[in-house]
Amino acid sequence: MGKASVLVFLLLLHCFMGSLAWTHTNINTDISALLALTSYITSDPYDFLADWSVSFSPCNWTGVRCDTYHRRVYSLNLGGMELKGSISPQLGNLSILVELDLSDNNFYGQIPEDLVRLRNLKLFNLSYNDFHDEQVPTWIGSLSSLVQLNLQNNNFNGFIPLSLFNLSSLEILDCNFNFIEGAIPLEVGRLEQLKILRLAGNKLSGNIPHTISSLSSLELLSLSYNSLSGMF
Ligand SMILES: *[C@@H]1O[C@H](CO)[C@@H](O)[C@H](O)[C@H]1NC(C)=O
Ligand SMILES: *[C@@H]1O[C@H](CO)[C@@H](O)[C@H](O)[C@H]1NC(C)=O
Ligand SMILES: *[C@@H]1O[C@H](CO)[C@@H](O)[C@H](O)[C@H]1NC(C)=O
Ligand SMILES: *[C@@H]1O[C@H](CO)[C@@H](O)[C@H](O)[C@H]1NC(C)=O
Repeated sequence: MGKASVLVFLLLLHCFMGSLAWTHTNINTDISALLALTSYITSDPYDFLADWSVSFSPCNWTGVRCDTYHRRVYSLNLGGMELKGSISPQLGNLSILVELDLSDNNFYGQIPEDLVRLRNLKLFNLSYNDFHDEQVPTWIGSLSSLVQLNLQNNNFNGFIPLSLFNLSSLEILDCNFNFIEGAIPLEVGRLEQLKILRLAGNKLSGNIPHTISSLSSLELLSLSYNSLSGMF
């Protein structure tokens, strides 16, 4: 090899190693991501997270489940623990996470966009929390594995982001009881797998889109307590 090609080779090797370092995560990444969350939780009145300590395997921590094959955090379920706090951006490092259930707590504040890296996430449940003065983040539409999205009983405002209708595996979309406004977009008809659509108790207006009638898997539709008109 000439000097120039050696240089090019080293440069490529460097880039390759660099990208490896960037994408490489393991159980230690998961541990630091979970511990970072505890520093964003300001109140845990029943000490549910008392066992979140490096003396135990994180796979044994309350609310945490690991995948037996990868031995990585697969599910984080902190539902109904009366926790108060905000969501740490480091949760986006739980790279094989499939279920994230923070429902029925007092989480508030911005949902960090770092969570867009949760490419395996199938269940995202933020229902019954205290998210106010926030719009439903557009980036949620990039969580392409999502099957169940539950944002009910918060105070999300603004419009339904069109990106949500890109979630082709979505079976449950629950935004009941928020302050979501505007029309239900025609694009809702693209959610071919949708079984449950709940948008009741918002500030939606305009006509109910006819495309809803083409959702052949739909089993439950709840649109009451809005200012919608029309029928199909
Ligand atoms: C989890 O805890 C149980 C006992 O509570 C223990 O037997 C087991 O070895 C622990 N597993 C890990 C992976 O730490
Ligand atoms: C985890 O994520 C945060 C924010 O998204 C990032 O700054 C940090 O470097 C990551 N840490 C590890 C150990 O990957
Ligand atoms: C989300 O959490 C709420 C409250 O804990 C629960 O009732 C609901 O079934 C969950 N929804 C999904 C889609 O998991
Ligand atoms: C939906 O996905 C396509 C393909 O990835 C992308 O080009 C488009 O911008 C997305 N739409 C929205 C509203 O995000």
